[in-house]
Amino acid sequence: MGNSEALDKFHRMRERMLEAGGKDRLDAQHEKGKQGARERIAALLDENSFIETQAYIQGRAEEFGLDKKKYPGDGVVTGTGKIGGRQVCLSSQDFTVLGGSLGEKHAERVALAQELALKNGVPFLQINDSGGARIQEGVLSLDGYARIFKNNVWSSGVIPQFSVILGPCAGGAVYSPAITDFVFMVDGVSHMYITGPDVIKAVTGEQISHDELGGARTHCSKSGVAHFRFATEGECFDFIRRLLSYLPANNREMPPISPVSDPPDRETPDLFQVIPEEPRKPYDVRDIISRAFDENSFLEVHREWAENVVVGFAKLAGRTVGIFANNPKVFAGSLDINSSDKGARFIRFCDAFNIPIISLVDVPGYLPGIAQEHGGIIRHGAKILYAIAEATVPKVALILRKSYGGSYIAMSARALGYDRIIALPTAEAAVMGAEGAANIIFRQEITGAPDPGLKRQEKIREFQDQFMNPYVAAGYGFIDEIIDPRWTRVELIRSLEMHSRKKEDRPAKKHGNIPL
Ligand code: HXC
Repeated sequence: MGNSEALDKFHRMRERMLEAGGKDRLDAQHEKGKQGARERIAALLDENSFIETQAYIQGRAEEFGLDKKKYPGDGVVTGTGKIGGRQVCLSSQDFTVLGGSLGEKHAERVALAQELALKNGVPFLQINDSGGARIQEGVLSLDGYARIFKNNVWSSGVIPQFSVILGPCAGGAVYSPAITDFVFMVDGVSHMYITGPDVIKAVTGEQISHDELGGARTHCSKSGVAHFRFATEGECFDFIRRLLSYLPANNREMPPISPVSDPPDRETPDLFQVIPEEPRKPYDVRDIISRAFDENSFLEVHREWAENVVVGFAKLAGRTVGIFANNPKVFAGSLDINSSDKGARFIRFCDAFNIPIISLVDVPGYLPGIAQEHGGIIRHGAKILYAIAEATVPKVALILRKSYGGSYIAMSARALGYDRIIALPTAEAAVMGAEGAANIIFRQEITGAPDPGLKRQEKIREFQDQFMNPYVAAGYGFIDEIIDPRWTRVELIRSLEMHSRKKEDRPAKKHGNIPL
């Protein structure tokens, strides 16, 4: 082949590769509010930073009766590029090619990109838009999924992994996102389910729409499968770029430090006003977060699910921290099954990626109820204890108000592994609330009194005066300092600084056995 012939062929092949499923199918994507696979990569990555891998890979289409449907790239675009100047690897499924279905070579391509990410120690991002296993390729497709799942597991805790669901993600295909650290969904665009509405109708008779079954709202608020929900793909990509700027590239690096825009010595004069005088009155712990941490730095994770606990990343004097907070606004901030799962998974992500943990404590206990007990609150609640005790990153607890019983241990106990425990003057570290305690330990005195109601009130007050404060726990050395609320931000920064060189090991083992 002469040079000009070779160049002609090069251009023809390249055009075919870029054309993928063709203009009509791309237009159909746009009509659904979706972008094409390459458009998404261009929108997400820094300009001109994309380097493609295995661009011309092709499936063994003839063998599967797909000879007219042979596409260079095999329905997915993979490679590496930069976000905010830092390297990531990624895959982006192309719905215009055989519905983005995953065949042998498609899987090989995704797996190679995952392996590139792991070898280089950079985050891996997968954009899912696919009809699932390519039916014609049968078990070869299943084998491909298996390789991807294994890579997800091997990468877990080594590099951050994001799954961006921008179309269907059905059947066993959902298990790759489920293994990754964060799942992103877009309203009206993303759907995830093991079996779709038609199969459910045939098997159980239940009727439900695609959106209700597995749309963004469902998975962000009901199932907890997804962490972040957006109105558009563009908003989703903006957020991913921001989130990555908080995270290290891998488990051997420290998170990036951003320029300090909020003075570390800023006082927090109005923070104390957030906490109501009346101890049973709710408030939103986000109002504490917005005052104490760097301005506008809070990136909430799982915002719509298990809202009695608030978790997310923030900056403190430019450094990334993970916040694990009770939210008295919902179920009085108590810990239940879902909030335990939410908290424990977040804590383990932070620990894996060298992000200090700050717990903000206002918790009356684990949530009582038959549904909770029968749903396994014992098994689920244990996850938080496990995750905190296992974590070797700096761990700071700030007790805002209540810290009672088993939840005191989970949220603030030094013996569990918190490095520094500080408290506002309103803190109450106790085995239970005053009413419950008085009813038990003064029962005989109360029932034997001429006016039991009056006696109960008297005993509750007596218990409150004696035990419902931070000084008993501080007297035992369980609380390091009781702080002036106006110095909350400063005290948190100092608490982190004093542990910035922390090194801790655990007994050698293959891995622990967290109660799942
Ligand atoms: C092969 C597929 C495909 C698949 C879609 N296509 N899914 N080809 N294998 N799994 C093809 C269609 O034939 C069609 O080709 C093109 O992609 C676009 O699909 P449409 O159906 O026209 O698109 P739409 O109406 O938008 O519907 C999208 C869809 C639907 C909801 C995803 O295609 C669908 O239900 N597909 C099957 C989903 C499924 O059951 N997957 C599970 C497979 S088993 P043409 O040439 O006509 O344009 C599985 C197990 C994995 O995934 C286990 C892993 C452990």
